[in-house]
Amino acid sequence: MQSSRRNFVGMAVMGMGMAGLAMSIYPFIASLSPSAASLKGAKVEIDINSIPEGQIRVFSWKGKPVFVVRLPQGFNWGGSVKSAQNQPLLKGQDTYAMIGVCTHLGCVPLWKPQGEGDFKFPVFHCPCHGGFYSPWGDVIAGPPPKSLQLPPQSRESNKLIIGQEGFIKEQT
Ligand code: FES
Repeated sequence: MQSSRRNFVGMAVMGMGMAGLAMSIYPFIASLSPSAASLKGAKVEIDINSIPEGQIRVFSWKGKPVFVVRLPQGFNWGGSVKSAQNQPLLKGQDTYAMIGVCTHLGCVPLWKPQGEGDFKFPVFHCPCHGGFYSPWGDVIAGPPPKSLQLPPQSRESNKLIIGQEGFIKEQT
């Protein structure tokens, strides 16, 4: 009798704990869900001034994570890539968007503004299998077969508009 009561109390406490955990992580999970607008492929407008220089912010567009990178003024990178696919297309842009999905097996790379491992300069690191990308999403090292994808995007004053063709057009 005593033991079944203890079991009941234990189950009740565990149930409350699970409910509390679910309530506390729900806003985080909800923030990762693509909005109805981004699922339709509508434009996503980013206020560039909301991103500190040298940092990135992650947004959702068409249900995918998108990195918006803002380079510092006069940025001098210092690294080299296997094949520069994105950098020539993004030349002259201090703020731009890339699909944040590794081209190897689809993990989400991490922004390392201080560098990582052998690379003592800003890189994206995909920890799944050791992929490294430049700040423009070109492959430096590891298994990724190609650069991070660039969504169509344009610039209007201090706004970056993802989903509107401009300096990057729709890629086929
Ligand atoms: S998924 Fe990124 S290196 Fe494999």
